[in-house]
Amino acid sequence: MAQAAVNHIDRLLREMSLAEKLGQLTMTAAGSTVTGPTLAGDSTDAIRAGTVGNLLNLTGAAAVRDMQRLAVEESRLGVPLLIGFDVIHGYRTLFPIPLAEAAAFDPDLWLLTAREAAKEAAADGLAMTFAPMLDVARDPRWGRSAEGPGEDPYVGARIAEAKVRGFQGGDLADGSSLAACAKHYCAYGAVAAGRDYASVDISDRTLREVYLPPFTAAVASGVASVMPAFTDLAGIPMTANAALLKGWLRRRLGFNGVILSDYNAVAELINHGIAADLAQAAALALQAGVDIDMMAGAYRHGLPIALDRGWVSSADIDESVRRVLTLKWKLGLFDDPYRRGSVAESAEALATRRRFARGVAARSLVMLKNDRDVLPVPQPIRLAVIGPLGDSAADMRGSWWCAAAPEGPVTVVAGLRAAMSEARVAFEAGIDIEGADAGGGTARALDLCAQTDAIVLCLGEAATLSGEAASRAHPLLLGRQRQFAETIFDRARVLRKPVIVILFSGRPLIVPWLIERADAVLAAWFLGSEAGNALADVITGRVSPGGRTPVSWARSVGQIPLFFGARPGGRPANPNDTYTSKYLDVANDPLFPFGHGLTYGRFRLSNLQVSRESVTENDTVAVRVDVTNEGNRAAEETVFLFIHDKLASVARPLLELKGFGKIRLEPGQSGAVTLPLAAKDLRFLGLNLEPVFEPGEVEILVGPCADRSRLLAATLHLAPARA
Ligand code: NOJ
Repeated sequence: MAQAAVNHIDRLLREMSLAEKLGQLTMTAAGSTVTGPTLAGDSTDAIRAGTVGNLLNLTGAAAVRDMQRLAVEESRLGVPLLIGFDVIHGYRTLFPIPLAEAAAFDPDLWLLTAREAAKEAAADGLAMTFAPMLDVARDPRWGRSAEGPGEDPYVGARIAEAKVRGFQGGDLADGSSLAACAKHYCAYGAVAAGRDYASVDISDRTLREVYLPPFTAAVASGVASVMPAFTDLAGIPMTANAALLKGWLRRRLGFNGVILSDYNAVAELINHGIAADLAQAAALALQAGVDIDMMAGAYRHGLPIALDRGWVSSADIDESVRRVLTLKWKLGLFDDPYRRGSVAESAEALATRRRFARGVAARSLVMLKNDRDVLPVPQPIRLAVIGPLGDSAADMRGSWWCAAAPEGPVTVVAGLRAAMSEARVAFEAGIDIEGADAGGGTARALDLCAQTDAIVLCLGEAATLSGEAASRAHPLLLGRQRQFAETIFDRARVLRKPVIVILFSGRPLIVPWLIERADAVLAAWFLGSEAGNALADVITGRVSPGGRTPVSWARSVGQIPLFFGARPGGRPANPNDTYTSKYLDVANDPLFPFGHGLTYGRFRLSNLQVSRESVTENDTVAVRVDVTNEGNRAAEETVFLFIHDKLASVARPLLELKGFGKIRLEPGQSGAVTLPLAAKDLRFLGLNLEPVFEPGEVEILVGPCADRSRLLAATLHLAPARA
C-alpha cells in the first residue's frame, strides 16, 4: 500500500480514542430495510461521536450522502463511513437470483451482472456489497439455496472469480466499484436437515473438497472481505472459529482483507453456548479474526470490558482497525467520500441495463421438458395464462430485492401481451399462492381453458418462500396448488390443449407428478426485473432457452441430499442384487440431473479427443468434442467436462466437474468445443488431506449433463514426473 495511506492510518490510530476505534469495528443498520431480527434505531448521534463507523441497509443517494456527511463533516476525526448492502442479484434492476444465474454457465455473464449491479448501487453512494454468496447447497429444503451457486464446488469457484471481479471492477477506488464480501465462510449450506441456522457437522475432507473451493477462488481473485457463517462447525461457531478464520483463511489462503461478522452473530455466540456475555463473545470473535461486528454492538460495549479483563489487547484492536481503515482507503473513501453517489445514472444507462437483464433472464431459465415441441408456440395463437404467479410482479424479484420496487418487474402476462398482442393473452390467477380460491377463480380458469389454444400455467413459490429463514421441510408445491393444477390438467386433457408450466422457485422443487403431466416445463426460478419479457422471448421462440440446472432435481424428499458428485460405495446399486445401495420405493437417480436443460436445437456430440494420452503434473491437455445441431432452430449447447478417477488411494466421486463451455450453432451446423484441462487439477486430497497427483488412469467424460449414460469417454494416463 502507498506510504501516504500507511502514514494516514498510523496517524488516525494514534489520535483515536478506544471508543472511536471500536466505532470503526462496528456496523449498524440504518434506514428502513430490515434483514435481521434486531434493529439499531437511530445511529446519527453515534456517527457524529465516531462510535459507529460502518452502516448497512441504507438506500437512496440522498439518504446515504446525509449519513456520510455526518461522519465526514461532523465527527471529530472525519473518518468516512463504509456503507454496505446486500446487492445480491442487482440493485434497482434485478437480474435472476444467483441460483438461476448459475444456470447460464457463463462466467462472462456472471461478471457483467455483478458489474452492472455495482454501478447501480454505487450510484446511490454504496461502497460494499455482502456478496457473492458462495455456499454450495445440496439440500433443497434450505431456503438459501436460492442465493448460491448450486451443488458443485467447481461452479462455485468460477462464480466466485467472476463476481468478485465484477463487483470490484479493475480498481476498488473507482466510483463504480463495490467491495465484495465472500460469504458465508464456510459450509453454511450443510446445515442439518436443511434448516436455516442449524448446526453443521461435516468431515474435514468434505469441508476442503466441497465447501472451501469457492472461497479459495474468491481470495485468489482479491475479494475485499469475508463474512463468517452464522453456523457452528462441529461445535465451533464460525464467528469464533480461529482455526478456520485466522488459521485457514488468513494464514493458509493469505487473506488480509476485512472479516465482517454476520448480522448479530457475535452476540449469538451466547446462544451457541460458548460465551457467557457480550464481553466474552466479543473477545472470542476478535481473537478468531473478526474485524467488524455487524449489528451486535458487542465490540462497542463488550470489548472495553474484555480489554480490562485482559482477554484482548489494544494491539488486537488496532490490527482490526487498521484493516478497516485500509479498506476504506482502497475504496477511495478518504480521497473523496462522495465519489459514489454524486452522479445519478442516465435514463439511457438504466434502459440499456434493463435490456441486458432481459437477455440474462432468458439465458438463465431452464427448459426441463418440451414434449412434441410444444415450445416455442406457433403463431398466431391464443394463450391462457393461469395461476397465481402469472401476474405477480413482486414475486418475480425473488429474495434480496434491494431497491427494486415491487411493481417494477414485468410479469408473464405483461411480457406475453407485449410480445404477442393484448387480445391474444387472457389471464386468470384462479387461486392465490397458497392455493386458496376465494372468489370462483378456479371456475373462471377452467372456462378460460375452453377459449384458448394453449395454457401457460404459472405455479410455484412466492419470492419470500426462499432465501434466508425460508427453509421448507417439504419443498413441494405449496398448499392446494397441486389440486388446482390437477384440475387444469384434467380439463386441458379433455379439451386436448397443451399445458406449458412455468415453475417459479428458489430451489429445485420436488414435483415429479407435475413434470409428468405437463407438456412443457420452464424452470423460471426468479428471473428479476425482466422475467416476463424473457419468458415471452422463449415461449414465442425469439430466443432459444439455454440454461442448465446447477442442481439435481430430486424425485422424492427422501433422496435428499442428492448430487452428482457422490462416491460409488462398496455395493453400488444393482437392480438384480438385493444387497446393494438403493431404496425399495424410489430410484436412486434424480428426476433431472445437474446440467439438464433443453434447447430449441437438437445437439449431437461426437468424436471426443484428448490432445495427449499421458500427462505429468505440470501438463495441460485440450479436451475437444464435435457438436452438431441436428435440429431446425439455432441454439446454444452447453458441454460439461467431468472426470472419474476410478482407482485412487481415497475413493473418488463418480463424477467431478472440471470444465464447461458453450457453442451456438445454426440448424445443420457443426463446430467443436475445446476445454483446457490442467493436470494439476486432477490432483485430489490424499490420505493426509494434502493434494496428491497419483499416477494411474483417469476417465475423461464429456457430455450435456451429469447423466453418466450420456457422456462420451476417453482415458488419460497420469504419469509420475519425469526425472
Ligand atoms: C444475514 C445474512 O445471513 C447475510 O447474508 C446478510 O448479508 C446479512 N444478514 C445482512 O443483511
